[in-house]
Amino acid sequence: MNSLEKVPTHVAFIMDGNGRWARQRGKDRIFGHFEGVESVRAVMEASVEFGVKYISFFAFSEENWNRPEAEVNGLMELMMDTIHRELRTFLDNGIRFRLLGNRSRLSKKLNDAIDGLEAATAEGTRMTAIVFLSYSGKWDIRQAARRMAEDGGSDIEDYLVTAGIPDPDLLIRTSGEKRISNFMLWQLAYTEFVFTDTLWPDFRKEEYRNALLEYASRDRRFGKVK
Ligand code: FPP
Repeated sequence: MNSLEKVPTHVAFIMDGNGRWARQRGKDRIFGHFEGVESVRAVMEASVEFGVKYISFFAFSEENWNRPEAEVNGLMELMMDTIHRELRTFLDNGIRFRLLGNRSRLSKKLNDAIDGLEAATAEGTRMTAIVFLSYSGKWDIRQAARRMAEDGGSDIEDYLVTAGIPDPDLLIRTSGEKRISNFMLWQLAYTEFVFTDTLWPDFRKEEYRNALLEYASRDRRFGKVK
């Protein structure tokens, strides 16, 4: 991967288009989510290879609770299965797993599985993979402000769920939509955005590499002049 001269430290993904991918094949939306997990694994493994240190996946927003019950249940089960099935992917690649979001809305069973995978992978040092579940940027800022006031603290960044994690350098959104959709509103302040028409289940190493090449060509100034 030596042709990638400017590798981002933190890449965030809005994994969009699973439902459309399934519909195009005459299948139920959940099949698109199943195939989406294959892309998550491909992207995790490629990230380790490319030298990315943090990757974030927006798996389920606070707003997604309003989807049909069958799809919500299907996604929660898929999360549960993925946690159990992918332990080896994390351990074999030295990846630390973190889950961020409003965990009070998740079942006890799922919370226990999350705690288990976080503990089992805590020593992973090559990369940290963060799944955002039941997360929204406005929720994060609200909970941070509330806790900061209780504490008498002064820096909101210490209270966001991402405290200690560097802000994303690059955000990739698939499926042609060009929105933030309430993802890390605070943390994306100076992030570069790459939008691709590829649907998430079709987003694999080559598409990822193209997005990193696009990132490498950007001139980041953080509001300053160079
Ligand atoms: C967006 O596609 C995708 C989601 C809301 C769910 C993403 C979840 C996964 C890929 C699986 C679990 C994730 C991990 C990290 C194990 P959409 O349903 O909005 O698609 P559409 O826009 O075509 O309807």
